[in-house]
Amino acid sequence: MSTTTIVIFGISGDLARRKLIPALFNLFQKDRLEGNFNIVGFAGRSWTDQELKKIAREGIDKFAGYPVDNEKWREFENKLHYISGKFQDENAFVLLANTLENLENGSANRIFYLATPPGFFTDIIVNLGKTGQIEEENGWRRVVIEKPFGTDLESAKKLNHDILKVLREDQIYRIDHYLGKETVQNILIARFANTIFEPVWNRNYISNVQITVAEKVGLEHRAGYYDTVGVVRDMFQNHLLQLMSLVAMEPPASHKANDQRDEKVKVLKAVRKFTPEEVRKYSVLGQYRGYKEEDGVSENSQTPTYAAIQFFIDNWRWQGVPFYLRSGKMLTGKMSEIVIQFKCPPHLMFPLPEDYKFTSNTLSLCLQPDEGIHLKFETKVPDTIAETKSVDLEYHYENVFGQNSIPEAYERLLLDALLGDAALFTRSDRSELAWEILDPIISTWQNADENPLAIYEQGSWGPEEADRLLQKQGNAWIRGCGNH
Ligand code: BG6
Repeated sequence: MSTTTIVIFGISGDLARRKLIPALFNLFQKDRLEGNFNIVGFAGRSWTDQELKKIAREGIDKFAGYPVDNEKWREFENKLHYISGKFQDENAFVLLANTLENLENGSANRIFYLATPPGFFTDIIVNLGKTGQIEEENGWRRVVIEKPFGTDLESAKKLNHDILKVLREDQIYRIDHYLGKETVQNILIARFANTIFEPVWNRNYISNVQITVAEKVGLEHRAGYYDTVGVVRDMFQNHLLQLMSLVAMEPPASHKANDQRDEKVKVLKAVRKFTPEEVRKYSVLGQYRGYKEEDGVSENSQTPTYAAIQFFIDNWRWQGVPFYLRSGKMLTGKMSEIVIQFKCPPHLMFPLPEDYKFTSNTLSLCLQPDEGIHLKFETKVPDTIAETKSVDLEYHYENVFGQNSIPEAYERLLLDALLGDAALFTRSDRSELAWEILDPIISTWQNADENPLAIYEQGSWGPEEADRLLQKQGNAWIRGCGNH
């Protein structure tokens, strides 16, 4: 039976408590973690194994949202171990190496999960390298790296350069939890496991694509991180550009990681890189009223908490089709969706009044909440000559697969990393290309005198300027999912 050790750096943090441990335990409950395994937490606090177990269980009870089998829990908690140490301290890594050898007692695979602030990524990887823990004599070695991966192109390049001195690219799993979401994985299934969508999935039939990731929450005690980052780095560099790539990419040659990642990279290569003039024309960055008064936010902060950006994909499939992406904090609700708006029919021969407002078809991929797909089309109103009304064909996961059928994104991602499937992880070239696209947008908006952020009300849909961005082109934001 194989032995696997999962080392989590930064296990005392929020991510481990809310997501990683609950995901690992659920995989264990579902019998998806095969063979012998151990989970070793490494962080600065002077916890004991017992304290880790207690905090892990509290996290599961509070955040997991699934029933806990107590017998399974007792088995699982025996696999939890804790080491206190500093990420920059090579001696602590010697201690780690010795602890792992004792636990494993022979050959074993190891996965190192970096759930720490990004400033420690390089130190940890260098120390793993120095203490011989990346060598694959007795099993494979993989490293999962949390976001953010750099803060701009230069820092991402440096980070890639530094870690690739120690690791091979195929040992690195840069995580983006959106790719682990069930509904995000379904984008490729909807497109390529059906024949009805793909023939119309192009500039001939599609008028525009809208991607919204709206959040009701604000800073959630993360001001120290968020105020240095803002929405473009926090949400667009990873989640939103990944969603756009999945909508826009060509069918990959196979399901293999690099075939999928090649196609996503091609999309980013075709995205137009903006001049400062274009940035002003095609993007609106905003800040919610009251942001500067939040604890931990600097009083002159120019950090955007909202962005709406129009992207162009300069290739044969998408030439001339705007991709409107928006995301923000403190909005009216939590809602992530992708709306494909089709063109209006080229000719209407129905006897309709001249000012008749015809609605074009939309296909909406509802990522969260109320996961599903909606297709809106026109139908004749009964007992009229030719009046039309938009109706909605709806598919809801809950109705088909039952409540709680959708697993937490981290379950899938952790399992894939253990299985060595990197399809849902980011390759180095992709992380750099995303910064190439966003750097000009971030830097142009940093100039507060020339480009003041648009202020929006908490609980709204964002600044009016974002509506005008679409109106200028005869379009409007559409809500394709939920009750509207
Ligand atoms: C994270 C961001 O990556 O995604 C957070 O850092 C954001 O700011 C979160 O709140 C949103 O994720 P989800 O899964 O709740 O949509």
